[in-house]
Amino acid sequence: MSTHEHSAAEQSGLPDIHIDRYEGLWIRISLLTVVVFTVAVGISSFAWGIQLPGAYQRIDPKTLNDPSSPFATPGLRELAPGKYEAYMTAQVWSFTPAEIRLPVGAEVTFYVTARDVLHGFKIAETNINMMVVPGQVSTLKAVFEKPGTYNLICHEYCGAGGPTIGHHTMYGQIIVEGVEETAATQ
Ligand code: CUA
Repeated sequence: MSTHEHSAAEQSGLPDIHIDRYEGLWIRISLLTVVVFTVAVGISSFAWGIQLPGAYQRIDPKTLNDPSSPFATPGLRELAPGKYEAYMTAQVWSFTPAEIRLPVGAEVTFYVTARDVLHGFKIAETNINMMVVPGQVSTLKAVFEKPGTYNLICHEYCGAGGPTIGHHTMYGQIIVEGVEETAATQ
């Protein structure tokens, strides 16, 4: 049987496929790696809830000022005790609002879109790091466990098609106030 196959392969000019022992071992290892990574992605996304910055929805940048748009009056809204949503816009060369104040422990879902060109949205010391694309709403959630000032920076070289002279000045701040501090300001 094998003699017959061998001669058939030779006759057709095709190479005789032989898998070496170590080659076979490495094929198994590489297949196992794929399985391990798939399981890791599954656990991190479903069990641990780790999320990637996602395109939450499409939006026409021309409609951002419409009264029905949540971006017409950007800012922080409290949905439930300790739970917030923040609608923010990015434009050359600022964020609106440029400052957000939160009590410590606040869970915030950010919804960000761009009015003009591509921007970045990175909050230092958090997992928030996303691109802000005109025509798209980017979203990510963060919990601010430590009081302090978190810098929000644009990390995409913005202003393409025109001067980018202001990119490095594009920043904002998330100010997380401790319990006593919040109580004092009320
Ligand atoms: Cu916006 Cu760089």
